[in-house]
Amino acid sequence: MRMPLVAGNWKMNTTLNEAIALVKKMRPGLDQIEGVEKVICPPFISLAPIKELLKGSSIKLGAQNMYFEEKGAYTGEISPLMLAELCQFVIVGHSERRHYFKETGEIIEKKVKAALKFGLKPILCIGETLEENEAGKTEEVLAKQLSSAGINYAGGLVLAYEPVWAIGTGRAASSRQANETIAFIRQFVSKQSGKETAQGVRILYGGSVTADNIAEFINQPEIDGALVGGASIKADEFISIVKQASDIKRVR
Ligand code: 13P
Repeated sequence: MRMPLVAGNWKMNTTLNEAIALVKKMRPGLDQIEGVEKVICPPFISLAPIKELLKGSSIKLGAQNMYFEEKGAYTGEISPLMLAELCQFVIVGHSERRHYFKETGEIIEKKVKAALKFGLKPILCIGETLEENEAGKTEEVLAKQLSSAGINYAGGLVLAYEPVWAIGTGRAASSRQANETIAFIRQFVSKQSGKETAQGVRILYGGSVTADNIAEFINQPEIDGALVGGASIKADEFISIVKQASDIKRVR
């Protein structure tokens, strides 16, 4: 049984004060929900204070990005060594990083390996653009994004299928479509790392997930949870998303 996971990617939202207020608002509701792994990914500068706030909570912390070197002259960057003191997860290869910050497959592969080396669980994001989707190239694109050699799927890595056209657009993929694509991703992992490993890897759906559509996604057999953007910085909505995931698929 794969433990469902719901992660909130706050992106570049919330000042420190706002982040603290949001966590205080979310914590009681989220702490009551069992059988689902709950992760929030606030901006870097809020990680340390939120870690303190979450003492004794079942909510886990993730970062939204990191550099792949351990330390050194890389002005402005944050390393896996630094993050390992603060959080358990790190989002890697988000389409916004690939697009705005020109992160290549090579960079992303290095980040995944560095995260695993320092005991962080990468949430590796993959997904096709609208043009690629319309050209029928979805599987080809995903295979390319996944085929970075040497990714160890057995080390706690989580995958997130986030079609670029569904991110922040209010136009989510259909749950059937997402399930089929995630089945393809699992098959691909199976070919690379064996069936047993593939059955253990959690694969999330992301892109315009809300409290109104989460149930459809989580009801699909291949979908192990969600990576939520906009709806994850609304306390009541995020709690509702996690609660529905638990009601449908919690692991006891
Ligand atoms: P939205 O939920 O705002 O569409 O964002 C999805 C996302 O990019 C999560 O990483």
